[in-house]
Amino acid sequence: MDRERHDVLDELQRDPYPHYDRARRAEGLTRVPELDAWLVARDADVREVLRRPDDFSSANSLRPDVMPSPAALAVLGGGFGGRPVVVTTDGDRHQRLRAPIVRALSPARVAAVLPYAAERAAALVDTFVKDGRVELMSAYAQRLPGDVVGRIVGLDPVDVPGVVHGGHRAEELLFRPLAEDEQIAAAEDVVAMQRTLDRYVRERHAHPREDLATEITAQVTEGSEGSEGELALEHRHEAVSHLQNLLIAGHLTTTALIGTTVLHLLRHRRQWELLCAEPGRIPAAVEEAARYDTALQGFRRLTTCPVTLAGTELPAGEAVFVAFGGANRDPARHPRPDEFDITRTPERHLAFGFGAHGCPGAQLAREQLRLTLEELTRRLPGLRLAVDHPVSMRPTMIHRSPYRLHLTW
Ligand code: HEM
Repeated sequence: MDRERHDVLDELQRDPYPHYDRARRAEGLTRVPELDAWLVARDADVREVLRRPDDFSSANSLRPDVMPSPAALAVLGGGFGGRPVVVTTDGDRHQRLRAPIVRALSPARVAAVLPYAAERAAALVDTFVKDGRVELMSAYAQRLPGDVVGRIVGLDPVDVPGVVHGGHRAEELLFRPLAEDEQIAAAEDVVAMQRTLDRYVRERHAHPREDLATEITAQVTEGSEGSEGELALEHRHEAVSHLQNLLIAGHLTTTALIGTTVLHLLRHRRQWELLCAEPGRIPAAVEEAARYDTALQGFRRLTTCPVTLAGTELPAGEAVFVAFGGANRDPARHPRPDEFDITRTPERHLAFGFGAHGCPGAQLAREQLRLTLEELTRRLPGLRLAVDHPVSMRPTMIHRSPYRLHLTW
């Protein structure tokens, strides 16, 4: 995609809400050229797509906005991955890939990681609590989720920063228009992350442990001959693909939601003060933030057969953009949808999707948000947005958040 077309897409991504609004009011579905897809923005229509995974395939859900240059692709060719993963598969194969992830993120396993998450949240706040100001994205929001999902996967804490960095770079490479040398540098960082993950895959194959890296490695070799010996190259590619996808799904999204949640609470000062006075409202505040400025705004689906959706007839092979963020602002489901109000009577939102691909990490994400708000309201009730740093949103449909969040107290 050239830069000019990308600028138009950026505009939509920085503020997609007027586009959803128009699409919800229009008859049927609206074709949006910037998204190269039909926009599905009503709550009922989004639910219908999610209820019909056989008719709406996930094969194109991770379609990049930018195709890397041949030189960057050559660098990536020296790494691992590129195989179908849980978010991009359908049917039985999808179920098989999803099973170990659901097990690893069960309520009991999430409960078991919470003491570590609480300790990390407190330790990160300790690093800036005496400073009177902080840039929250880099000092906290980009750090806690990687530590926590890294723990579940079984990463050594020293490897977490490199793996988190590689995830950010993968997103940049595939979704931002970068200059040639920047693309190559980003591809090198991605490959470095993949090599680290491959090391885990080989180690866990040789010496299984109780962690998700072991379960994913075991899952890709299930039923294959000679899986006791050295791991076949194809299995290494597959396992690294799954781990990379899971780590990115786990940390970038949660980072984004921490940023937008704190941003909107501080923009609505009275609600922040209410939360400080009544921390029992924290879970409701998390749900409202997840609804109001959904981190994962939407994913694509591909029609597998001729379908009619909202009265629009689509042939097989059409792309639809399923806007969780649009559904979450639908007045038919959420009265006064454009108001951020942590005291509203909650309706079921779609920030974590639902159905066959519904987010298996939702509980883990919610707990990290809860811990974060407990720490910040208790220790820094005087938090404010720094007036000398206006907030701007990152242009992205998959990790909606402020670029930076400068706070003072
Ligand atoms: C605020 C944080 C998060 C948000 C907003 C979020 C949102 C979502 C959404 C909307 C989906 C559905 C995608 C679809 O229908 O195609 C999804 C899927 C997924 N999420 Fe999350 N997620 C978050 C955190 C996490 C965490 C912490 C993990 C893991 C540690 C995780 C792992 C996954 C995985 C593996 C899938 C794919 C499931 C499948 O395709 O079957 N997510 N997420």
